[in-house]
Amino acid sequence: MSNPTDNDGAPGAYLRAVDFLRVTEQAALASARWLGRGDNHAADQAAVDAMRQAFNEVPINGTVVIGEGQKDEAPELYVGEKLGAGGPEVDIAVDPLEGTDLVARGDSGAIAVCAVAEPGGVFSAPDIYMRKLCVGATAKGRVDIDAPLSETLEVIARCYNRQVRDMTVIVLDRPRHAEMIEEIRAAGARARLIPDGDITASMEVAVRGTGDHLYVGIGGSTEGVITAAALECLGGEIQAQMWPGNDEQRQQIIDHGIADPDKLMTTRDLASAPRYVLATGVSDGNLLKGVRYFADGARTHSIVLDLKGNTVRFIDTVHIFSRTLISPIRL
Ligand code: FBP
Repeated sequence: MSNPTDNDGAPGAYLRAVDFLRVTEQAALASARWLGRGDNHAADQAAVDAMRQAFNEVPINGTVVIGEGQKDEAPELYVGEKLGAGGPEVDIAVDPLEGTDLVARGDSGAIAVCAVAEPGGVFSAPDIYMRKLCVGATAKGRVDIDAPLSETLEVIARCYNRQVRDMTVIVLDRPRHAEMIEEIRAAGARARLIPDGDITASMEVAVRGTGDHLYVGIGGSTEGVITAAALECLGGEIQAQMWPGNDEQRQQIIDHGIADPDKLMTTRDLASAPRYVLATGVSDGNLLKGVRYFADGARTHSIVLDLKGNTVRFIDTVHIFSRTLISPIRL
């Protein structure tokens, strides 16, 4: 099969980034109904079902290579699951709802997100923690995940032509990060502690104007892979390492086919041939607005990254639920 996402003249072989947009939009529309209703399972389930259904309408032969669950842990889109209505082969990394707890609490920053890649184009790993460091294009190639954070912050501050005290570091607010947070504060930088959502956080540091400069910490491996694909497009960088909590998890990583579980991985190691990354806001965040419902429709806000087309699109969509829209569309 030729490159599944190139226009090689074969009917139906040309899939554009926006052909996948419904996937995250539908997941967001379904899960946002559960905003603030205290039921994270229902929110997650709604996102998974909607994403699965939308993927199954896209003319691809897709395989989930990294997701949030193994086969016996349904309802997640499990690793190895086949998706699509038939067509060119693609690999898929999914996080139907990043920030399940955020949605349950009615909190900001939840997104529905996925990455689409050439076969073999994204790293496949079990759902085990990963240690990560992410920067945008301004500091790309200048940082080292193993360097002391104080040094890293000096380097990044120089890249931005600012002082360390002007730097903001995003960290997941977890006890495992207590020492790291102390280090950031001791260096004089500002730590922005987030309850969840390290894909959004990592994308934020790669977009100027968000006021965030570095993401560090231990989070999910699926999130790490999707982040790598997104940063590849946004010109940023991730450095990462699998972070097993015990021998059993370490063995799980090896059994998955990863020969060296301690290997330090680059953006390219995690996403060697990504094509598209799509994310739709579920609840309001710094990058994306959340779903807004009105009487006979809803509005979504998405980011669509196209690595070959070299485009970053912010897409504002009005979804009309009834055949005739009664309420006027607002700007
Ligand atoms: P989900 O909502 O998809 O479960 O992930 C939320 C999240 O905060 C991720 O952004 C992050 O990578 C991971 O959870 C961190 O894991 P934990 O909550 O176990 O610290």
